[in-house]
Amino acid sequence: MIKFKIETWGCQMNEYDSQKMAGILKKAGYIETQSEKDAEIIILNTCSVREKAVHKIHSRLGVLKKRFKGEKILGVCGCVASQEGRALLEKVPYLQFVLGTRSTHLISKAVEQAQNGMRFLDADDHESEMDHPVTFAERSGQTKAYISIIEGCDNFCTYCVVPYTRGREHSRPLQTILDEVRDVVQNKNIHEIELLGQNVNSYNYRGTRFPDLLEAVSAEPGVQRLRFLTSHPKDFSERLVRVIAANSNICRTIHLPMQSGSDVILRKMGRKYTRAEYLEKIEMIREILPENWLSSDFIVGFPGESEKDFMETMDVIRSVKYDNLFSFKYSPRPGTAALKLKEPAVLNSAASRRLSILQHTQEQIQLNKHLRMINRIFPVLVESVSKKNPDFLTGRTEGNHVVHFKAGRGAQLIGRIVNVEIKSVTMASLKGVLI
Ligand code: SAH
Ligand code: SF4
Ligand code: F3S
Repeated sequence: MIKFKIETWGCQMNEYDSQKMAGILKKAGYIETQSEKDAEIIILNTCSVREKAVHKIHSRLGVLKKRFKGEKILGVCGCVASQEGRALLEKVPYLQFVLGTRSTHLISKAVEQAQNGMRFLDADDHESEMDHPVTFAERSGQTKAYISIIEGCDNFCTYCVVPYTRGREHSRPLQTILDEVRDVVQNKNIHEIELLGQNVNSYNYRGTRFPDLLEAVSAEPGVQRLRFLTSHPKDFSERLVRVIAANSNICRTIHLPMQSGSDVILRKMGRKYTRAEYLEKIEMIREILPENWLSSDFIVGFPGESEKDFMETMDVIRSVKYDNLFSFKYSPRPGTAALKLKEPAVLNSAASRRLSILQHTQEQIQLNKHLRMINRIFPVLVESVSKKNPDFLTGRTEGNHVVHFKAGRGAQLIGRIVNVEIKSVTMASLKGVLI
């Protein structure tokens, strides 16, 4: 039996693509392994959002080449594959195949060709492929199912490579999404669903918009927890928040990337909202959903970002007090509009200092928020037996906090929602007891 290993290097959408490819290969008779030594086929599912992510892929390829000296079939899929296409195949002579983000359905063909000694490339836009329900995605051992609702992105934020790697926006049919939801709930016994899209708020399938879709998924029997990623603030609507408020199985957890607190920078980023408009949305969420968990993404060191612009970002972070933040140093990406800006680049040392101030401030905010959770009881969806201590289980709250707790009954609770009283916290996670 021929074994394969898929390494996922990117975001949730990238993970979902890995699950689809694993499902296809298993159906074709291959066996999945986590061991690179046992695998005859190693597939890197890649990310190119920042330069560092691309470097990691190239150095990983170098390591694999050195370690196995041509004994294995090596393939690259995902965003680096879409962006570089043929150039990647030419640059890396020991690579057997390159498959773009919209060519994942061709994975077994690529592998077969490679086994016959032929190299394979496909980075075309097979848009209609997305319309079929993906009931074959590999979901064993999972307690949360990713389901893609809209692929690609038409926003072209000036720093971002995603519109080039994932193509134009394409909303998947409502029925296809509902079929996938039913499949995971009824056949795979998974009760938490995360709907994915680069911008879920752009969803539009023959007039069905995102709030309608969310309502429909929420009404499916067996959906205990429903989440979604990512929302673009420019079209994040009150109607959507009202749908969340009206359905108790939709998590009050909203990821609303702001990127910068400065209007000057937001304009140069092409984000299409102002600081005031963004903050109004946060107010609106907090008014309609008294209990809520907010997170965001920020970029520091965008070309032309002054100390004053950065202070405006810090001011938002201190006043909003997010439950979680993802922050990055600006990374120039090939083909993006930001490369043509006349503004001077921010010195790397200044960008690093800004990032560390931002992250340090957020750590304090997060720790304080966690401290306030002590002695309160939260529903936790149990995900796994703790890696560090087998007497403990690990799960997540509605707000996505990682919770460790001791449980006598152990593994049988995996996939279920239990009540946990929080007893101690760190910046990164919570510890509690089963109630
Ligand atoms: N579609 C999502 C996120 C896509 S990428 C959205 O619009 O919010 C995830 C995050 O990576 C972005 O929110 C942004 O903060 C960051 N990012 C994207 N391009 C980047 C770049 N060139 N340099 C640094 N960070 C970047
Ligand atoms: Fe990138 Fe902007 Fe699209 Fe998000 S909305 S994927 S940041 S272009
Ligand atoms: Fe995701 Fe990275 Fe591609 S963030 S969409 S895998 S560039």
